[in-house]
Amino acid sequence: MKLALTALGFATLAFAAPAFAQATGDAAAGEKVFNKCQTCHVIADASGTVLGGRNAKTGPNLYGLPGRAAGTQADFNGYGESLVALGATGFVWDEASFVEYVADPAKFLKARLDDNGARSKMSFKLGNEKERLDVYAYIASLSPAAAPADGAAAPAADGAAAPAVTN
Ligand code: HEC
Repeated sequence: MKLALTALGFATLAFAAPAFAQATGDAAAGEKVFNKCQTCHVIADASGTVLGGRNAKTGPNLYGLPGRAAGTQADFNGYGESLVALGATGFVWDEASFVEYVADPAKFLKARLDDNGARSKMSFKLGNEKERLDVYAYIASLSPAAAPADGAAAPAADGAAAPAVTN
């Protein structure tokens, strides 16, 4: 009986959020891990408010990364061809792929594109898997609530977030 209830609990969790929105790490610990990323990355929302890091622009803004197609952050023009090519295949970031990528970006791109000539513009590698999970949880915690995978609802949601005040 207890087992059945536990299974039900997991099933409910699994349906509660799209797969890419799941983060199993510790976001508070991930905030400290992000110190290693913030030399190059910021987490800043659509209005430019910095939520994490300082204001580094060497790498793309990581706001909204869960569920975002690789190599598509509109304000960043320093992407390498390989990451853009991966995004063009419809590849979208989730916890599992993020954890694999940040361990060794070049190796990840070679494997995913099945191309030994694939190159990464991110040379940094984070060897510790717990740190990778935690920093993903941190990034996810600062990102907007999951939008439908096609992203079509995002502009509508923005509009709905600012209802006209009528008085
Ligand atoms: C020395 C600078 C530097 C550091 C440090 C760095 N990155 Fe990056 N990162 C980059 C660059 C440059 C890119 C673009 C890579 C490309 O185009 O091949 C990138 C890309 C990424 C992407 C893909 C984003 C997208 O829009 O598809 C993720 C995810 C990422 N970095 C996470 C991290 C995390 C997490 C850390 C810290 C653990 C980190 N990076 C540390 C420079 C850096």
